[in-house]
Amino acid sequence: MKESLQTRDSWNSKLGFILATAGSAVGLGNLWKFPYTVGKNGGGAFLLVYMIFLLLIGYPLMLAAITLGRKTKLCAVGAYKSINKNWAFVGFLGVLCGFFILAFYSTVGGWVIYYLIEALKGNLNTTDSTLLANIFTNFISSPQKSILYQAAFLFVTYLIVVKGIKNGIEKASKIMMPTLLIMIVIIAFRSLSLPNAIEGIKFLFIPDFSKINLNVIMNALGQVFFSLSIGMGVIVTYGSYLDKKENIILASTYIPLLDTFVALVAGLATIPAVFSFNFEIAQGPSLMFITLPAVFSSMSFGYLFCIVFFILVLFAALTSSISMLEVCVSYFVDEKNTKRSTSAIYITLVIFLMGIPASLSMGILKDFKLLGSLNFFDFYDKLTSNIFLPLGGFLLAIFVGYVLTTKVALEEITINNEKFILSDIWCFLIKYIVPPLVFIILINSLKELFILITN
Ligand code: PFF
Repeated sequence: MKESLQTRDSWNSKLGFILATAGSAVGLGNLWKFPYTVGKNGGGAFLLVYMIFLLLIGYPLMLAAITLGRKTKLCAVGAYKSINKNWAFVGFLGVLCGFFILAFYSTVGGWVIYYLIEALKGNLNTTDSTLLANIFTNFISSPQKSILYQAAFLFVTYLIVVKGIKNGIEKASKIMMPTLLIMIVIIAFRSLSLPNAIEGIKFLFIPDFSKINLNVIMNALGQVFFSLSIGMGVIVTYGSYLDKKENIILASTYIPLLDTFVALVAGLATIPAVFSFNFEIAQGPSLMFITLPAVFSSMSFGYLFCIVFFILVLFAALTSSISMLEVCVSYFVDEKNTKRSTSAIYITLVIFLMGIPASLSMGILKDFKLLGSLNFFDFYDKLTSNIFLPLGGFLLAIFVGYVLTTKVALEEITINNEKFILSDIWCFLIKYIVPPLVFIILINSLKELFILITN
């Protein structure tokens, strides 16, 4: 544990913690995944279930994770282990999850880099859906390009983690994050002012209850975990650096609020434009890459907007990917006594190799199914969002609720005599609501995955 605590940069202020944790939470999950997942899962119905899970599961778990981290002052594996040796496997599960998420996250990170370059060249200046779809398809059909850009994304992530320049990232976050927020609000206004945008608003906010099915429920839960970075130890690790005098009730409220705000605004920037330009709402992962360039092309200074936007998306993606790589690297440093630089290079290489088939999934491996009807990209995504992260969240709730006990957790939360008016509700949720609810959905996700694999 010692080495990682010494070599890992920590933040000096609460703002540092908020920025790093918010940096991990706000990323491609909000800007890219949320809008297309809403699109594929019936719009308002999905949003409603998402919000319910956010309040009942996401928020209580965020507080539980920060509390566990700050109480033990150890990274994920150590935090569990220091309280009960038999629970170290939860930390390990998180590490495994980090490999799988980064394997497909880096694919999309690569897409962002490619789009940034295309934006600079002025090649995205059109509202023609066929042309925009062609740009995307041509790119992902090229194995060399997909892999090269994925490698570039991973390389930058690696450099940040190994060179320990997170201090610089933290400082940059203070400018980048607010700028990103302002930009997507402006883009959302533009999108909302397009003809026929109202159809998009209706789609996003008016729930059609008949659309709610098991799939929507599983995907909404997965999206809550993915978007908040909960269930793989990132938040526990980041919480371990938080000073005892900071108010963790407030900290764990800001982050879900900010994360949800960004996701909603990203939805408002994308979905109305999809209806206005008559694009396909359920097209999946390509949605952001096809729709937003069209929005930029329809606004003044669109060329500049497009460039700045992709720079900021890249930044947001990197602040998330470094949090994942950090969890994996610190595990090997702490548990296996490997040198930080050595673990970082090997882990990045393994993730790169795992990521190659994910990068090719929509191109030359389009018709290749890894398991049943799932290609690599979908498999990594489903395995992590629907199985690993909920499982990590379920175990976190059991751990904080019953092993650490909510009584001890509450003592940590209110260590400076903070008023926690929701304390009874929080304990109730952590002990009696989160575990059974997540468990039931998890069992169904496993069943579903099994069916997809065997089909
Ligand atoms: N929350 C990140 C996003 O929304 O892009 C993705 C992520 C980061 C998931 C870290 C899980 C994690 F541990």
